[in-house]
Amino acid sequence: MDQQTAEQKKVIFSGIQPSGMLTIGNYLGSLKNWGRLQQDYDCLYCVVDLHAITVRQDPATLRKRTYETLALYMACGLDPEKNTLFVQSHVPAHAELAWVLNCFTMFGELSRMTQFKDKSKKYSSNVNAGLFTYPVLMAADILLYQADVVPVGMDQMQHIEITRDIAGRFNQVYGETFRIPEGVLPKAGAKVMSLAEPEKKMSKSDSNGNASVYILDDRDTVIRKFRRAVTDSGSEVRRAEGKDGINNLMTIYAAFTGKTDAEIEAEFAGRGYGDFKSAVGETVADALSPVRERFGQLTADKAYLESVMKDGASRASYLARKTLTKVYRKVGFTQPK
Ligand code: TYM
Repeated sequence: MDQQTAEQKKVIFSGIQPSGMLTIGNYLGSLKNWGRLQQDYDCLYCVVDLHAITVRQDPATLRKRTYETLALYMACGLDPEKNTLFVQSHVPAHAELAWVLNCFTMFGELSRMTQFKDKSKKYSSNVNAGLFTYPVLMAADILLYQADVVPVGMDQMQHIEITRDIAGRFNQVYGETFRIPEGVLPKAGAKVMSLAEPEKKMSKSDSNGNASVYILDDRDTVIRKFRRAVTDSGSEVRRAEGKDGINNLMTIYAAFTGKTDAEIEAEFAGRGYGDFKSAVGETVADALSPVRERFGQLTADKAYLESVMKDGASRASYLARKTLTKVYRKVGFTQPK
C-alpha cells in the first residue's frame, strides 16, 4: 500500500468522541496505550466530532470539547510530530466514503449492533438515521487510512468486526481495495465499570458524576470517588464471581500499576476494602496529575492547538484522498482530469 512504502510501518487508527469529559475508562481502554505505539507504527488519532452529533450536542460545548479532546491526546503523551492528530470533520473524505460504504452495509447487520440497541433505548426520542449508520462512518474512518491495527476498548470490538465485514464485502466485489483491520484490546482495562453501578460500563455520558472518574478530576475528587465506590459487604480483596465492585477496582489498580491479581491480593491480604480503595484512589490520582498539568498548559494556547489540527488535517486528507479516489474509480464514478 502506498502509505506504507516509505518505512513499511504498520498503520494504526483510533478515535474518541468529544461527547463528554473523558473518563479513566477512555484512558485505560485507549489513550494510555497509544503513546507507546508512536515509535513503531504510523499512527492516526482522530477526534470524531461527526460521530458525536448522533446524540444532541450543545454547539459551544461540542466546540470546546473538540479542542479539549485534542489537548488530552497530547497531554497523555501523543507527540503531534510523530502522530497524525486531527478532527474528523476537517477531512471530508470520512463522510464521503461513509456514503459509499452505506451501500455495502446491510440493514440487518446494523440492527444487530449492541451500541445501537443501547443508545436507541437511552435516547428514545431521537433514534436518528445517524445513530443507526454510526458503525459505517466508523468503518470509513478506519478503511480510509488502510489501518492494520485499531486499538480500542471492549465496547468497540463489535464495530471493528462489522468494519472487517464491510471491507471484505467491498473487496470481494471490486478486488483488493481495503486492508482488513484488526481490533486490539489493552491487556488490562478493556472494560472499566462504573464506580456507582459496577455491573454497568463506565461512560463519559453517565449523568451520575460519582459513577465515573474523569481524567481531569482533581486529586481529592479522584480519591473521594474511589472511597465511595460501591462494593459488596465482604472485606477480602480477592477477585471472585459476583464481586463486580472489587473486581473492577482490581482491574483499575492492575492497569495503573502493572501488577497481577495475585500480587494485588497479597499486597492487601488482611487489610480490608477501605485500605484498598484509598490505595487505588491515590495511585490513579498520582498517575493523572501530570496529565492534568500538561492539559492546562496546552489548552492555554489555542493557536497552537489550531496549528496541530490544521497540520493533522492536511496530512490525513492526503492519505484519505488516495483511498477515496481509488474507491470512486472502482465503483464507476467519473473523474474528469
Ligand atoms: P468512545 O468515544 O465511546 O470511547 C473512546 C475509546 O475509549 C474506550 N472506552 C473504554 N474502554 C474501557 N472501559 C470503558 N469503560 C470505556 N469506555 C470507552 C472505547 O472502547 C474507545 O476505544 N465509536 C468510537 C469512536 C470511534 C472510533 C473510530 C474508534 C469513531 N471512529 C475508529 C476506533 C476507530 C467511540 O464512540 O468511542
